[in-house]
Amino acid sequence: MSEAVVKVLVVGNGGREHALAWALLRSPRVQQVYVAPGNGGTANLENCENLPIGVSDFDGICSAIKAKGVDLVVVGPEVPLAEGISDRLQSEGVPVFGPVQAGAQLEASKAWAKELMVEAGVPTAKAAVFTSAAEANAYIQAEGAPIVVKADGLAAGKGVTVAATVEEAIAAIEEAFGGAFGSAGQQVVIEECLMGAEASVLAFTDGKTVIPMVAAQDHKRVGEGDIGPNTGGMGAYAPAPLVTPALMAQVESDVLQPTLAALSKRGIDYRGILYAGLMITPQNEIKVIEFNCRFGDPETQVVLPLLKTPLIDVIEACIGQTLGEMPALEWNSGVAATVVAAAGGYPGSYRKGDVITGVDQAEAQGAKVFHAGTAAKDGQTVTNGGRVLAVTQLGDSFDAALEASYKALDVIQFDDLYCRRDIGYQVRSQA
Ligand code: AMP
Ligand code: GLY
Repeated sequence: MSEAVVKVLVVGNGGREHALAWALLRSPRVQQVYVAPGNGGTANLENCENLPIGVSDFDGICSAIKAKGVDLVVVGPEVPLAEGISDRLQSEGVPVFGPVQAGAQLEASKAWAKELMVEAGVPTAKAAVFTSAAEANAYIQAEGAPIVVKADGLAAGKGVTVAATVEEAIAAIEEAFGGAFGSAGQQVVIEECLMGAEASVLAFTDGKTVIPMVAAQDHKRVGEGDIGPNTGGMGAYAPAPLVTPALMAQVESDVLQPTLAALSKRGIDYRGILYAGLMITPQNEIKVIEFNCRFGDPETQVVLPLLKTPLIDVIEACIGQTLGEMPALEWNSGVAATVVAAAGGYPGSYRKGDVITGVDQAEAQGAKVFHAGTAAKDGQTVTNGGRVLAVTQLGDSFDAALEASYKALDVIQFDDLYCRRDIGYQVRSQA
């Protein structure tokens, strides 16, 4: 591994980016991290500075890279990747972690991803793609319910309806073609509804080699007992016991490697994160629900705290295409859990600007509090988004980690704080 010190720019402003900045700074080789635009948490990290530049402002990002002497860029969210930030940075000679625009289609177009999966023989739900509401409705009538309707493009996690009835599916079609998701909804993918338990496998790749991280389980629904609308994720834990070593081997051989090979066959040099959202069926079969082209949020807040290998080394190996030469990743032998504190009303409308207290006390208990929707204002930290904080604790057992997360979260306060109280119910000794 290189011994050179580096300055890294992280693009994004969520909990994931706080976790990335924090994990990068754990390596003494990382001298300085900049975050564009960052949040109230990254503002307070030592050797870290927020830059007031939006994630889609490529000119601003390129100027800051020159001005600050940034050595490499780590892109957090999917939107700038889908807009081609990596292509732009590569054209400027800047090393970047995150796939080029052609590769980001894996997340940015569900129809494109489905076609690639079928071509690669990756197990996934049966699906059909439609650009007209009438044809989509006819297909739904013929298939019956339950059935899943997905807007093709990026819709911030809101473009998917798991419809229990034909009427609900048709309403989702009307919503998509009616413009609810903008151009993202002008093409829809209609899928067979899969049953089972979900897991997220995030993998590092340099375009040739793919190395999975420990599996995580997210909690997508807003309500306890997995009810209510989908969110970005209300909590997570890792390693997910559901993904046994045998299943993980299958994910590598049947999902990750063939997907990378299919990308490569299309001439796409994909370097960054390949994130497989999986359904594990009651028959213990794996099916891919979706791919993402970036780290998961809040999965990152449990996976990276368990990674013992310096993150910067892995990222440099992905960019330099030397991942296959790296020693195996080293992991903490314990477990991690994170619980998201959200603003009341999320994922619908919510208030911003409420003062947050208790974060230091929570961290004094050993928690790592990753900020998501927060901002620094007049010397205080205030709410600035739907998901506000993610409170992570490590432990020897899920009971210990989850109890510690909730204990730390309970000393944090802001008006209308909402959290799910049942995160990790799948792995608690008493639910
Ligand atoms: P996606 O944005 O594709 O990850 O979908 C969001 C969520 O919708 C997933 O995490 C699942 O909970 C659910 N979902 C998506 N596709 C399916 C499917 N084919 N069957 C069952 N649930 C699904
Ligand atoms: N937690 C789900 C995602 O990052 O897409």
